[in-house]
Amino acid sequence: MRRPVSSYPDIMDKIVIEGGHELHGEIRISGAKNAALPIIAATLLTPGWHTLYNVPDLRDIRTILSLMATLGVVWEKNGPDTLRINTADLSGCEASYDLVKTMRASVLVLGPLLVRMGRARVSLPGGCAIGARPINFHTQGLKKLGAEVVLEQGYVEAVISNRLPGGTVYFDFPSVTGTENLLMAAVLAKGTTVLKNVAREPEIGNLIDMLISMGAEIEGRDTDKLIIYGVESLNPAEITIIPDRIETGTYLIAVGAVGGEVKLTHCDPALLPALTEKLRLAGLDLTEMADCFLVRGNGSPLSVDIKTMVYPGFPTDLQAQMMALMTFADGTSFINETIFENRFMHVAELRRLGADIKVDGASAIVRGSGGLTGAKVMATDLRASASLVIAGLAAHGVTEVSRVYHLDRGYENLVKKLTGVGAVIQRKEDN
Ligand code: UD1
Repeated sequence: MRRPVSSYPDIMDKIVIEGGHELHGEIRISGAKNAALPIIAATLLTPGWHTLYNVPDLRDIRTILSLMATLGVVWEKNGPDTLRINTADLSGCEASYDLVKTMRASVLVLGPLLVRMGRARVSLPGGCAIGARPINFHTQGLKKLGAEVVLEQGYVEAVISNRLPGGTVYFDFPSVTGTENLLMAAVLAKGTTVLKNVAREPEIGNLIDMLISMGAEIEGRDTDKLIIYGVESLNPAEITIIPDRIETGTYLIAVGAVGGEVKLTHCDPALLPALTEKLRLAGLDLTEMADCFLVRGNGSPLSVDIKTMVYPGFPTDLQAQMMALMTFADGTSFINETIFENRFMHVAELRRLGADIKVDGASAIVRGSGGLTGAKVMATDLRASASLVIAGLAAHGVTEVSRVYHLDRGYENLVKKLTGVGAVIQRKEDN
């Protein structure tokens, strides 16, 4: 059985962009990172070969596969975006600090490992660039379902002596990976579980579809209350990963900032209700088709206000990109971040390009300046990096974005996709 050989580009690379070139052509959208990660974790629930289609080739996917390898999982690529995963022989039940610190979503193995192995030991992720991001909903929820959970030496240790009894859990806040972890734990419980005030992100729907095809019994998909009737066993399954709505939104916003006409294919316009509303108000011309978007922009957006919210509200993962767009608007825009407490790291970098942005707590005021000027900037996190690329594409002159490894976590072939629609953008070694 083969494992993919890591051929990932150098993490110290930078992206060099010559701004001001309109975008014209077609971009194919990849599968959603945030759907693929929990679905890969879900394959741990039951032994056998699982098949996943439309899996993006991203650094985060490689990270979770490395973690799965430490648990005894093997896999093979079957074509460019088909992944076959064999979870027949698990040899471990620990996610080490070294892996979890590079990707917080590693915590997704906690629920499935616990119910498959009777025990799981997962490093606490710690804080990250965008906030403290605790996992108390995951641990408290597992306790409510009947697991013994202790924190020891920086690790969460969860144990069950028999099948989880199941129970009722109310989320103080609809956490995405929290919902996913408890869902995966509850499907093999002895009894029924009710999860209230859960997140409704489309990626959770994709996970539910996978779990149902594995034999799970779940009611309430796309609502804020999930009822899970525990089953004794599951079977291996196959699933297609949904299109990445954040990647889709990033390219829509890029066209708004730079101008041009682009068709985004293999995407799902229905997954971006809040963004499309805002982009239309910003003056973009959007045509939605079954699995593609046609977007036209003139590079002079109108200012709009944004408040990030849980789905179907405006996604926090598109806040930084939208802020970049608003720096080109004619007017003032108010941006309110309600999901993460520290998600304005991109502001200092956008200011280096000449943006006029004031931050006051969880709000930012962006005064559109009618143009930015290229400069050297540094990526601080995944979506902040995307906002700097958008700003660089529309700025006058040359922008260099360093620490490209953040982009590699979540954007498949970004440079190639943008070059294909006329952007002047290159990936280079950063000395
Ligand atoms: C997921 C997404 C991420 C997105 C985020 C919000 C994945 C792999 N990642 O992250 O891209 O930005 O949703 O849409 O799907 N919280 C707690 N305690 C917890 C869990 C969360 O207080 O146990 C808080 C967080 O600090 C944050 C809020 O709840 O303020 C929402 O976080 P959550 O939905 O859990 O984000 P993630 O699942 O980590």
